[in-house]
Amino acid sequence: MAKKLFIKTHGCQMNEYDSDRMQDLLNESHGFETTLNEEEADLILLNTCSIREKAQEKVFHQLGRWKKLKEKNPNLKIGVGGCVASQEGENIIKRAPQVDMVFGPQTIHRVSNLYEKSVENTINTVDISFPKTEKFEHFPDQKNEGPTAFVSIMEGCNKYCSFCVVPHTRGHEISRPIDDILREISVLAKKGTKEINLLGQNVNSYRDSKLKTKGLGLSNLIRAAAEIEGIERIQFTTSHPFEFGQDLIDIYEEVPQLISYVHLPVQSGSNNILKQMRRRHTRDEYFEIIDKLKSVREGISISSDFIVGFPGETDKDFQDTLDLVDRVGYDESFSFIYSPRPNTTAKDLEDNVPTEEKKERLSVLQHKLENSAISISRKMVGKTSKCLVTGVSKKNPGEFQARAENNKVVIFPCSDPSIIGNIIDIEIVNAQNKSLKGIAV
Ligand code: SAH
Ligand code: F3S
Repeated sequence: MAKKLFIKTHGCQMNEYDSDRMQDLLNESHGFETTLNEEEADLILLNTCSIREKAQEKVFHQLGRWKKLKEKNPNLKIGVGGCVASQEGENIIKRAPQVDMVFGPQTIHRVSNLYEKSVENTINTVDISFPKTEKFEHFPDQKNEGPTAFVSIMEGCNKYCSFCVVPHTRGHEISRPIDDILREISVLAKKGTKEINLLGQNVNSYRDSKLKTKGLGLSNLIRAAAEIEGIERIQFTTSHPFEFGQDLIDIYEEVPQLISYVHLPVQSGSNNILKQMRRRHTRDEYFEIIDKLKSVREGISISSDFIVGFPGETDKDFQDTLDLVDRVGYDESFSFIYSPRPNTTAKDLEDNVPTEEKKERLSVLQHKLENSAISISRKMVGKTSKCLVTGVSKKNPGEFQARAENNKVVIFPCSDPSIIGNIIDIEIVNAQNKSLKGIAV
C-alpha cells in the first residue's frame, strides 16, 4: 500500500509552492500519496511561517497535537520546514523531540533523503543551509494540471526592511536561470495551464545572471513567457515599489496577457514611517508608479500590504496611511499589526504604540480597505469581463468560479465542467461583499 503524506502549510504563496514541490518529490521518490487525514499519515510535514509572532506560535501548538499521533503510531515521521525551521534550527527538536527532521526553505529538495535517514537510523536531522538554487534542480516537473500555476522565479530578499524576518530566514536573493523558468512554463502550458503567477519575495529584482539583463530582468522574463503558446494570463507576486522601473510600466502596454492587477505593498503612507521601515521610497514616488500604471492600463486593480503600529507611528502618520488608501483606491488588501521579529533592526526600536491603539488603527484601516474593494466591485456591475474559469464554486456545485481581468473572483451559474480552464466573457450582474456574481454571455 502506498505511503501517506500529510502536509500542512502556513504563510505565503512561496510556502504553498514549496509544499506542492515536496509532494511531487516524495511521490516520485517514495510513491507517497497525499492524504487530508493526518491520522492515517506515515509522514507529516509542517511548512512554517515566521513573519509575525502569532504565525510562529502556531508551530509548537500544532506539534504538540501531533505528538499524540506519534504515540499511537511510532512509525510516523514528522518534519518541520520553512521559515520557523530556518530561524530556530535545532531548537525545534529540543522543544519538540517528536520531530524527526528540520529543513529550511532552501533545502526542501532534500526532504526525501532526510525522510530515508529518519527511517533507517531514527536519528533527528537538521539541514537549514542555503545552497543557492540547488533546490530547483531537484524537482520533478510540476504535477499541476489546473488552469493556473505558480512558477517560482527567485528566492530570498536583500532589502532588509527593518521589520522583516524574510532576508534572515530565506536568505539572499537568488534568481533562477531564465531558461529553466521558461521550460517549466512550457511544460505547464502543454498540460493546459492558462495562467502563470511568477513568484518570489521580490520579483522585480529578478536577474538572470547569464543574460546580464541590466535591470530589465522581470520585464524580459514576462515578454518571453508571453510568447509561450497557451499562456493567456500572466501575473507576478510580490513586487516592491523601490524597483518598479519604467520597463515594468511599459510592459503593461506591450503584453496583453498581463492581467490588470498588481500587488504592490506600500506598508505605510507616512514618509517618516517609510524611512524607519527602510522601504527606500517616499509616498510621492509610490503615487507616481500608481499613476503611471493607471494611465497605461485602464481599470487596473492595485492591492497592498499594510503594517499599523510600527514603533513611533503617530496619529498623523496613521492618517497619512488612510489618506494614501483614499488616493490609490485599493482592491482587496492585507493589513497587520506590527510584530517585532528576531534579528531585525526594528526589534530594537521601542514598541511604543499602545496595544489598544494598534487594534483600533487596524480596524479603521481594514474598514476603509473593505469599502475601497467593494466600490471597485460595484463599478464592475453591468460590464463584461474576460474571465478565466478556475473551477467549481466551493459553496455551491451548481456554480463555477472565475477570475476577472482584474483578478476579482466571479461566481456564475454553470453545469458544464469542460468549461474549466477556458477564458469566457462574463457579464457582472451583482456585487456582494467579497465576490461578484455574473452570467456567462
Ligand atoms: N516581499 C514582500 C513582503 C513579504 S512579507 C514585500 O516586499 O512587501 C508579507 C507582508 O507581511 C509584508 O508586506 C508586511 O506587510 C507583513 N509583515 C512583514 N513583517 C512584519 C512584521 N514584523 N509585523 C507585521 N507585519 C509584517
Ligand atoms: Fe521583507 Fe522587505 Fe524583503 S518586506 S521580503 S525585507 S522587501
